[in-house]
Amino acid sequence: MAPKDLAIVVLAAGKGTRLKSNLAKVLHQAGGRTLLEQVLRACAPLGAKKTVVVIGHQAEQVKAVVDPTGASTVLQFPQHGTGHAMQVARRAIGGAKIAVVLPGDAPLIRTETLKALVAAHRAGNAAVTILSAVVNDPSGYGRILRKSETQVGAIVEESQLAPEQREINEINSSIYCFTLDKLWPALAQVKPNNKHKEIYLTDAVGVLAAKGETVLAQIAPDSREVLGCNTRVDLAEVDGIFREWKRNELMAGGVSIQLPQTVVVDADVTAGEDSLVEANVQLLGKTKMGARCIVRTGSVLKDAVLGDDVIVEQHCVVANSRLDERVTIGPFARLRNENHLKAGVHIGNFVELKKTTMGEGTKAGHLAYLGDSKIGTKTNIGAGTITCNYDGFHKHPTTIGDRVFIGTDSALVAPVKIGDGAYVAAGSTITENVPADALGIARGRQTNKPGWASKKRRELAAANNNAKKPAKRRGAGKTRNSVRKSKKKSRR
Ligand code: UD1
Ligand code: CA
Repeated sequence: MAPKDLAIVVLAAGKGTRLKSNLAKVLHQAGGRTLLEQVLRACAPLGAKKTVVVIGHQAEQVKAVVDPTGASTVLQFPQHGTGHAMQVARRAIGGAKIAVVLPGDAPLIRTETLKALVAAHRAGNAAVTILSAVVNDPSGYGRILRKSETQVGAIVEESQLAPEQREINEINSSIYCFTLDKLWPALAQVKPNNKHKEIYLTDAVGVLAAKGETVLAQIAPDSREVLGCNTRVDLAEVDGIFREWKRNELMAGGVSIQLPQTVVVDADVTAGEDSLVEANVQLLGKTKMGARCIVRTGSVLKDAVLGDDVIVEQHCVVANSRLDERVTIGPFARLRNENHLKAGVHIGNFVELKKTTMGEGTKAGHLAYLGDSKIGTKTNIGAGTITCNYDGFHKHPTTIGDRVFIGTDSALVAPVKIGDGAYVAAGSTITENVPADALGIARGRQTNKPGWASKKRRELAAANNNAKKPAKRRGAGKTRNSVRKSKKKSRR
């Protein structure tokens, strides 16, 4: 049921001075997405009639994140505080009766917690329901001042705390559910009575309480959910929590992870049952792994799609590539972009692939560069094979058929085609097509010169002795005989 009376307002106009960054705060990332995306994703399942994002700093870039989600934006410029941001959003909110308000910098918030907040607000028939949290270290947050077990009297910002209020460890998350026709008049009464001359949304809560309205605070079940990202340390902590949750999700789905705290997994990654991820692996972007895959230590997969039973050995880098079932790669393989390895392909160490398709059962075991290539099934690419795909101006394709044998250290100068069943002799520089079932050999013909090497050695030894003669004195300490003996030896 899409609640027709509900709006969502995300406050995302601030700069984030404490991050010391050129990038607006909500564009920083945690858990593999921008903070703002994380917040909007958590809100989406609430099914609000309208979602409004208040933007200001780097409005254009922030809008680019918001637009694809279908939410609308309003510009707050200049930024006169969180209360002012709500006033700016008022028109865009339209006819909604209640609004969930969130800061753009608290990305760990979960949908279930927001749903519970709205439910508590409705059940309590409140003017505002604050999402609060009980924390060990409340510093930096506004504190919840309770006037009774159930009712809140005010929120006091850190900078305005009386000494005895510093001990209060129930904090304001900056996530609220407001009944809007109560909020607007209260907000109109708020004065910018603070160092920054800002209109604080938190002060509207105090006004509502003073009017005798129902002001509730619902404590978040997991206080980590409300962590705000004001500093780089906050960002790292929040990122770490996202990563932990994601790894736990994979493990719950039947994936083994060694030394989990060393493994980085982005939010959209999926992996099938009985897969194993070793220590120090990164699974990034939209990587998808089938069942029973193994990704060994040091490997980084970004936007990789792995079928079942794929093995990625140690220290491989795979980007934007598809590896079908039973493919094995590495150690030390690099699959750069748009590769498709069909079932059972084997890629060994120090092989680089770019825009290359390989048919079933094809192998490139060692030391090769294969770019812009289409390679058939059951073909063997020898060690040191290079596709010369670039002429300094353009990229050219290489086509290699089925059951082809490319001898080691071959250079294939593209554009070039090697027909089905053909052989390329080791060390060839192939500049012309090789027909099916033919042998392509393109290298200098070998001639052997009998006795050449021993003759050469004698000449070199003689020249060496002549050169040494003037330096005879170096043998001081040796007897004449011993010098003569050693000379004899070297003549043999
Ligand atoms: C705010 C709360 C504090 C709470 C904390 C929780 C106020 C006055 N204080 O403090 O009680 O404990 O969050 O994290 O609300 N923003 C705008 N326009 C503005 C000012 C801010 O859109 O003019 C946005 C910011 O981009 C940010 C959010 O509002 O996403 C909160 O602002 P921030 O400066 O981070 O407030 P805190 O000092 O963290
Ligand atoms: Ca904040």
